[in-house]
Amino acid sequence: MPLIRVESLTKIYSSTKEGFAGIREVSFEVNEGEVVGVIGRSGCGKTTLLRCIAGFESSDSGKILLDGKSVSRPGPDRFMIFQGLDQLFPWLSLRGNLIFAMKTVNKDANMKELQRKAEYYLELVGLSEWGDCYPYQLSGGMKQRAFLARALSVNPRLLLLDEPFGSLDALGRKAMQDLLLRLWGKTGTTIILVTHDIDECIRLSDRILVFTKGTLKFNLINPLPRPRMSEDPAYMDFYGKISRILEKDANLKWANAVLR
Ligand SMILES: Nc1ncnc2c1ncn2[C@@H]1O[C@H](COP(=O)(O)OP(=O)(O)O)[C@@H](O)[C@H]1O
Ligand SMILES: [Mg+2]
Repeated sequence: MPLIRVESLTKIYSSTKEGFAGIREVSFEVNEGEVVGVIGRSGCGKTTLLRCIAGFESSDSGKILLDGKSVSRPGPDRFMIFQGLDQLFPWLSLRGNLIFAMKTVNKDANMKELQRKAEYYLELVGLSEWGDCYPYQLSGGMKQRAFLARALSVNPRLLLLDEPFGSLDALGRKAMQDLLLRLWGKTGTTIILVTHDIDECIRLSDRILVFTKGTLKFNLINPLPRPRMSEDPAYMDFYGKISRILEKDANLKWANAVLR
């Protein structure tokens, strides 16, 4: 049985003659331990899909099943890292942030055990020396690592990442992708990763869902073995395939009108 099954999921914000906002009749499955990338242009419904799976958004029709059971509300089995939001409590140290999150999902946990776990997860993301620091003392990249540490510390079945590295520069982004792969190798957590960066999607994902205007157009298996090298001809082929789908989706009428 897949970990997640999404069946004909539809969430419509508005539908007019000019366009449609939301997602329509989306169906796919995610197996335990998989990293599934979701790619598409801005506004194609990526965040909407994640919010529905996280349970923050109710759908208009369709189903989301986790381990075969329908989910419609948020739960500790799914952890979402939001796009571009500062998600740490500013009044708690990093260690405090992790302990708070773990206590929320396990009220009876023993404090010593929570502290031990917090150290473990801070170490995992290379922040063990920063446990006493507050979020305002950290750089953007360090905060991203802290989000990941906090997400993993509650041991979710599914991690939902919405353009998690979008705000970082190219080097920071690459470092975070490497870190995410290392963490995934260690924990085997199932991940759905939204991005609009084709390279990021290919480097990280086992399978890629290509969205155009609220519809799941292609569900592609990533044929490349890890580690994936952009110089590899097979990589370039796969990149070209995704890129062509997204280009077709571009609003060429609008571009032509501007260029004329
Ligand atoms: N709460 C909302 N109310 C109305 N429209 C929304 C809302 N959230 C998103 N939309 C619209 O739905 C479409 C898909 O949005 P979103 O899922 O955020 O796209 P993406 O994450 O792919 O950029 C967009 O046209 C967006 O403007
Ligand atoms: Mg989005």
